[in-house]
Amino acid sequence: MKDFISIASTSSEQLKELLVESSDLKKLYKYGKRDLCLAGKTLAMLFEKPSLRTRMSFQVAMTDLGGSPIYVKPEDIGGLGEREPIKDMARVFSRYVDGIMARTFEHSKVIDLAEFATVPVINALTNFSHPCQAMADVLTISEHCGQLEGVKIAFIGDGNNVARSLAMACAKLGMEMVVASPAGYELDAKSIEKANGFSAETITQTNNPAEAVVDANIIYTDTWVSMGQEEEKQKRVNDFAGFQVNAELLKKAPADAKIMHCLPAYRDYEITDEVVESPNSIIFDQSENRLHFQRALLKKLMS
Ligand code: CP
Ligand code: NVA
Repeated sequence: MKDFISIASTSSEQLKELLVESSDLKKLYKYGKRDLCLAGKTLAMLFEKPSLRTRMSFQVAMTDLGGSPIYVKPEDIGGLGEREPIKDMARVFSRYVDGIMARTFEHSKVIDLAEFATVPVINALTNFSHPCQAMADVLTISEHCGQLEGVKIAFIGDGNNVARSLAMACAKLGMEMVVASPAGYELDAKSIEKANGFSAETITQTNNPAEAVVDANIIYTDTWVSMGQEEEKQKRVNDFAGFQVNAELLKKAPADAKIMHCLPAYRDYEITDEVVESPNSIIFDQSENRLHFQRALLKKLMS
């Protein structure tokens, strides 16, 4: 395993190994111990979009493991693929650092980096996928549900990057997922077909959120307006009406269903404050687990 670009291109065995390592490292750190496996190593962190969780958790994970993160703003290096081709950047970075993580608009930029870099490349979110988020999410689900096998996620909202990676993780790790989206915002048919190719009938689609949550163990949502879609905000807010995760919707769900959100959460759009703050919310455990999963990932790829 050289890179971590998508859940789909990582085997179930590798995903399970990463989850075990994440739990082991989490325990180690809770006992106040450190694993300095990346002493002397450096990670370049390239961000075309804003980030709180991904930036902080990678930076802290790298430092905790004894290595050094280097934050690179695209404007400082003349853009990704603008001042010089990505294939040149990938080879130059590879001469200086031991790993690269990148958050880009186009997914193809991360693919190109991985193709031409001789060091590991990590997808830290693209318009297409968010695999590190999905792995932190399944780690969180396993902690709260005691297992992954048979767990059912109702994803309410935009069939975008977060939903896509989560669907692939479900298919590879024995979970089920129903995606409830308004017409025109469904998870694309190709991704559903791909996920169901890993495990038959794992991912289903509906336009009815109440139907989706009825037997769900987990209710998950993401913003209606992803980074880069700001100009579509008004149209999206109109189109997503009726797809809010709120107390009314939760009346249709099992009383012990857990609430998840990758964050940032836009109150009174995709979710209400009451639900974010409710006892069933495991949203901040998800955020914490970004750190533990990424320690395991960096250790696996770079040590
Ligand atoms: N969930 C997530 O990736 O958050 P950031 O955009 O803040 O990194
Ligand atoms: N779908 C969101 C996820 C943010 C972590 C976005 O791409 O902006």
